[in-house]
Amino acid sequence: MLGLFRKKKSNTVLGIDISSTAVKLLELSHNGKRYRVEAYAVEPLPAGAVAENNISDLEIVGAALGKAASKSRSSQKKTAVAVSGAAVITKTVEMPASLSDDDMETQIAIEADQYIPYPLDEVAIDFEVQGLSEKNPEKAEVLVAACRRENVEMREAALNLAGLKAHVVDVEAFALERCCELLPVPDEAKEKDSLMALVDIGALVTTLNVIQNGKTIYTREQLFGGKQLTEEIQRRYGLSEDEANAGKLSGELPDDYESEVLKPFTDAVVQQVSRGLQFFFSSSHFNDVDHIVLAGGTASLPGLEEMVSEKLGTSVQVANPFAEMAVAGRVKAGELTRNAPALMIACGLAMRSFD
Ligand SMILES: Nc1ncnc2c1ncn2[C@@H]1O[C@H](COP(=O)(O)OP(=O)(O)OP(=O)(O)O)[C@@H](O)[C@H]1O
Ligand SMILES: [Mg+2]
Repeated sequence: MLGLFRKKKSNTVLGIDISSTAVKLLELSHNGKRYRVEAYAVEPLPAGAVAENNISDLEIVGAALGKAASKSRSSQKKTAVAVSGAAVITKTVEMPASLSDDDMETQIAIEADQYIPYPLDEVAIDFEVQGLSEKNPEKAEVLVAACRRENVEMREAALNLAGLKAHVVDVEAFALERCCELLPVPDEAKEKDSLMALVDIGALVTTLNVIQNGKTIYTREQLFGGKQLTEEIQRRYGLSEDEANAGKLSGELPDDYESEVLKPFTDAVVQQVSRGLQFFFSSSHFNDVDHIVLAGGTASLPGLEEMVSEKLGTSVQVANPFAEMAVAGRVKAGELTRNAPALMIACGLAMRSFD
């Protein structure tokens, strides 16, 4: 056999975001210059299957993962998934740079109860040396991430039901940071110490992350999202949830939809972004950000980019991490682009293939 038609053994992982409305799957390849989207699928989840970052219905999530995997037509079984929310604690600590990895592990285990508010036997801990401390070169800066073991195990169990394996368990905020590197941001947002606000507006939750030099320095979650718009459409026009969602995406709704429903909701989104930033400013010495990135499904609302930019006087972009990527033939490019703002986490996870 020449192996002409046999695929090279790939070392990629499937990036899988298990969110409250869907499981989102993405596979990337990288040829040194350019990323290519190899596989992509989104499989919707019924309400309640995943709530507040926790899997509450293992069977349903497992089945959705299985469907997404087969829809994507990827043969890869190794995945990267992420945990997030209150179950996750990340902290940078300083330790003597001379310590070996084993010694660091021991010391972290001894000190961890100072900043981890859960019984340590219920917690999975990982750490990574970031580099030497700028202030004291004899110290290393070590990033410690801890997560309720149960949250990791539920994700592993759901993946296993679908014949998939958790090769990497990451933290959502890190996946987002990684994905942000791909965005074509303006020059002022590339300068050292500049601040980028990433606002992820999902269905239930809006998360503001402020990123400086590639690291998240502030996070705030608000219970606000596109579900409120769906509910208002349902209420006003007497539609089912599915009908309202479809109308929201197609725009095929009664004439007064734009002025009476969409405009007030868009105003509310702008206000949420503005308030989120006010909270950040009041808790830090900053009073401005250099650039705003809008992500999550609700960022696709028509006109939102312009309205946020006008109201806040800052450059704004709706995230599309695939803007400069190639796309494999089997991937539906149009759908991928339409969903791009909601795929930041899946994309940041898929990038773990190239560590
Ligand atoms: N083109 C679009 N226009 C307007 N709204 C959209 C569009 N596409 C998706 N949405 C809305 O975005 C929301 C889903 O976004 P996303 O996939 O980011 O949420 P999620 O990550 O599953 O939810 P959460 O982060 O709240 O757990 C839904 O309310 C959906 O109706
Ligand atoms: Mg989300």
